[in-house]
Amino acid sequence: MSSATFNKIFQSANETKCRYRVMLGSAGSGKSTNVAMDYILKLSSPEYAGCSLLVVRGVEVAHLNSTFAELTGAIDRLGLNSIWDSKLNPLTIRNRTNGNSIIFRGCSDQRAIERLKSVSVPAGKIVWVWLEEATELKSTDFDIIDDRCRGKLPERHFYQLTLTFNPINSGHWIKTQLWDYESPDIFKHKSTYLDNRFIDEGYKARMLRRKELDPEGYRIYGEGEWGEVGGLVFPSVTIGDYKDKEFEQYTLGTDFGFNHSHATLLIGWCDGSPYVIREVVVTEKTTGEIIELCNKADIPKNVLMYCDSAEPDRIKEFKSAGFKAYPVSKEKNSVSNQIAWLKNRQIYIDGRCSHTQKEIQAYKWRKDPTTGEYMDEPVKFNDDCVKALIYGCEPVRKQTRIKSMEKGALGLW
Ligand SMILES: Nc1ncnc2c1ncn2[C@@H]1O[C@H](COP(=O)(O)OP(=O)(O)O)[C@@H](O)[C@H]1O
Ligand SMILES: [Mg+2]
Repeated sequence: MSSATFNKIFQSANETKCRYRVMLGSAGSGKSTNVAMDYILKLSSPEYAGCSLLVVRGVEVAHLNSTFAELTGAIDRLGLNSIWDSKLNPLTIRNRTNGNSIIFRGCSDQRAIERLKSVSVPAGKIVWVWLEEATELKSTDFDIIDDRCRGKLPERHFYQLTLTFNPINSGHWIKTQLWDYESPDIFKHKSTYLDNRFIDEGYKARMLRRKELDPEGYRIYGEGEWGEVGGLVFPSVTIGDYKDKEFEQYTLGTDFGFNHSHATLLIGWCDGSPYVIREVVVTEKTTGEIIELCNKADIPKNVLMYCDSAEPDRIKEFKSAGFKAYPVSKEKNSVSNQIAWLKNRQIYIDGRCSHTQKEIQAYKWRKDPTTGEYMDEPVKFNDDCVKALIYGCEPVRKQTRIKSMEKGALGLW
């Protein structure tokens, strides 16, 4: 038996047999790790032979770096590698002893929803569904999934839908339809990073910094309280699978960081819109380590990389490593101009870029502490990917402006 242990706060969640298991909380409270370990244990036990798990996210490609990684990590941690097989294409995890399997789906468009509706397993039945980052889902997606979980089961088996998420928006359907709804079928659970004894000191320090710089964000991501509806800087970002999409141009954007995240983003351009298609987002890494990660992630060296101009030494290191790194020239009001420019076009993010997705969907305007009104200035916290995106857009933004003045291409890349 392995020495893996659970956080105590989740004990009641792991024991409940309610049809709906609604688990919200701050970032880093241990929800995903716990649910992954809980399902692996259940799916490994002879008692639940014939039970399979469906895992759902907004976009299917997001699974690889999140739920799939967490479930295979849980298998490792629990020392159960000898009875589980995992496969990348298509993503599947299968128990060798009892045939139980885990399958992964998204619900981003009609095709994905058809795939979701027709999902089946080689043996037994799908009795459990894990909706990770459940706020990505529409209530109609949830109804489709809920409808699937019907039909007679053996005495000891039970259907269960688990939702894990940060309570980002008090206007969300999950709040009205599940969290605020009184029913014996609904088990509700809240946790914060303070309940997670595996969290490291660096993480706690970042959270305390957030408490100071971004009190509203801290309520959601630190205290696990429902957030306010308004104030998003980019309220309608599109998430999708753009692996095979053809682009007209590419740019790179880099925001340096150590205590807060370093972010390098590869952006593809199509019809004037940016698509974030690759990301390297890490904390507490040296420039050398980051360059190594960029090489591993195939960040191209023949594409212009626009960087935060405040750190010329790090730009130089990137240059020496072969990247075409340049500082972004700062102008007056550049941040508000850059944001206004970006707000005028659709932003697309590949589902594999989980950090960028999460950050941009939480990026808010600052609130005036005295009047409570939103100001014309974003919260300066957790904005590393947004900054990298802004820098990466600079050549395109500037070119269009110059273009409109004096016709003709500039051939910036
Ligand atoms: N039971 C556990 N055993 C070991 N590490 C854990 C456990 N639970 C959480 N952690 C650690 O805490 C971090 C945050 O947990 P995670 O499940 O990602 O939080 P959440 O999903 O609530 O944001 C994980 O990356 C993992 O390193
Ligand atoms: Mg999580």
